[in-house]
Amino acid sequence: MKESKFEFQYEVYNDISELTEKDAWLLSEARTITEQAYAPYSNFHVGAVAMLSNGEIVAGTNQENASYPVGICAERVLLGNAATLYPNIAVETIAISYNSDTVKSDHPISPCGMCRQALLEYETRVKNPIRLILSGMEGKIQIIKTANSLLPFAFTPSELI
Ligand code: THU
Repeated sequence: MKESKFEFQYEVYNDISELTEKDAWLLSEARTITEQAYAPYSNFHVGAVAMLSNGEIVAGTNQENASYPVGICAERVLLGNAATLYPNIAVETIAISYNSDTVKSDHPISPCGMCRQALLEYETRVKNPIRLILSGMEGKIQIIKTANSLLPFAFTPSELI
């Protein structure tokens, strides 16, 4: 028997003032675009904004539905937009934030499992790590170098070949 360990490192910042100008700009865009979310059921408005390797900016917000499972997260709306508008262009960094009438938005958002799977496949597909800036409307920020570190033991396309 051999024990193995999985670990990853990430950066923690106290607030947006500690970020580089570029990262702070992307995060403030993500915070602003939470206003475009359609979240009448959860009241949890998520905004995601990406910087692509060609310098273009692509965004996504969560879009819910009266038939709850039809709703889609901001991250996957963003990836669909990026793949459609700029196919095969690397998504370098995504800033994600959220706003809510019912919960305080003062700690980093954590992408759901389905989005982690989608982010990981996008990295593989475009052969470039996606850096994540995770935050709320205020407070601490986590920066993760590559989305794949959020999904150890992932099921990947290589299983299907
Ligand atoms: N949601 C996102 O859009 N992204 C996340 O990272 C977490 C959750 C959405 C899905 C749903 O519309 C609402 O937030 C509450 O779960």
